[in-house]
Amino acid sequence: MVNEKEVVLFHGVDKVYNTGTVALNQLNLSIKEGEFISFLGPSGCGKSTALRMVAGLGEATRGKVEVFGKNPKDVIETSNDVAFVFQDANLLPWRTVLDNVLLPLELRGSDKKSRKETAIRVLEKVGLKDHLKSYPRELSGGMRMRVSIARALAAKPKLLLMDEPFAALDEMTRQTLQMDLLNIWEREKMTVLFVTHNVYEAVYLSSRIAVMSARPGRLSNLIDVDLPYPRERTTAKFTEYVDFASQSLEHSIGRKELV
Ligand SMILES: Nc1ncnc2c1ncn2[C@@H]1O[C@H](COP(=O)(O)OP(=O)(O)OP(=O)(O)O)[C@@H](O)[C@H]1O
Ligand SMILES: [Mg+2]
Repeated sequence: MVNEKEVVLFHGVDKVYNTGTVALNQLNLSIKEGEFISFLGPSGCGKSTALRMVAGLGEATRGKVEVFGKNPKDVIETSNDVAFVFQDANLLPWRTVLDNVLLPLELRGSDKKSRKETAIRVLEKVGLKDHLKSYPRELSGGMRMRVSIARALAAKPKLLLMDEPFAALDEMTRQTLQMDLLNIWEREKMTVLFVTHNVYEAVYLSSRIAVMSARPGRLSNLIDVDLPYPRERTTAKFTEYVDFASQSLEHSIGRKELV
C-alpha cells in the first residue's frame, strides 16, 4: 500500500537572494513518506537552495516550505528527524571516525553507552567497523563519505537530505555507495531527498525525479521511475529512463524540444 503522508511541501516557493539572483521561481512539490526523490538539474538552477530550505537554512522569499507540516527550522531545532549530507564529507579532522559519528549524538545528549553502541552500529552498516579509531586523513574519499553518511544515520532521521554526496568520488566507489545507500533506504524506510546533476545516478536511485530548469529555478518535469530495486544499469528499460531524463534535462536548459 502506498503511504501518502506528506514529508516535504514546497508551496509557491520563490527565492530571490539579496544580490537579486532569482534562485527559485514558483516551486511546487509535495514529497511523500518513503520516497527517494532526486532534484536533477544544471548548475545554478537552485537545487542546493531548495534543499537547504528544507534543512531550515534560508527562508523562502514568497510561498512556504514545510517539513512534516511544520516550519523546517522548528523541526531541526526540536528533533533528530532531519539529517543532511553535503558533497564534501565535512568531518572534523582532529576527531576519530567513531568520535565524528558520536558528535551529533553528544549534542543531543543521549547517554554515553547507548551513543557509542549506536555509532558503532551505523559504522558497521556502512562497512567501517574496522576503522573506528582512524582519523579522516587516513581514509579514502569514499570512506570519508561513508563516515559522513553514518553520522547522518546515527540520529535515525526520518528525512535524509543529500547534496551531491558522491560527486567527488570515482565511478566504482560511487556505484558501491549508491548500492549501499539504497540498501539503507529500504531497510530504514526513510524519505530521501537527493541532489544530483548526474542522470544515471538519478535513474539508478530515485523513485521520482524532479527535473529542474535554469530559467531560473523552475520544476520542468516530474518523472516516476517505475523500475524495481535493485536496478540493473544495463537493461533496456533503464536506458529508456536515462534517455528520457536526459531529454528532459536538455529541454529544461532550452537545448531541445521534448518529443
Ligand atoms: N548565498 C547566496 N547569495 C547569493 N546568491 C546565491 C547564494 N547561494 C546561491 N546563489 C545563487 O543562486 C543560484 C542557485 O544556486 P544553487 O547553489 O541553489 O544552485 P545549484 O543548482 O545547487 O548549483 P550546483 O549544481 O552548481 O551546485 C545561483 O545563481 C547562485 O549563484
Ligand atoms: Mg548545489
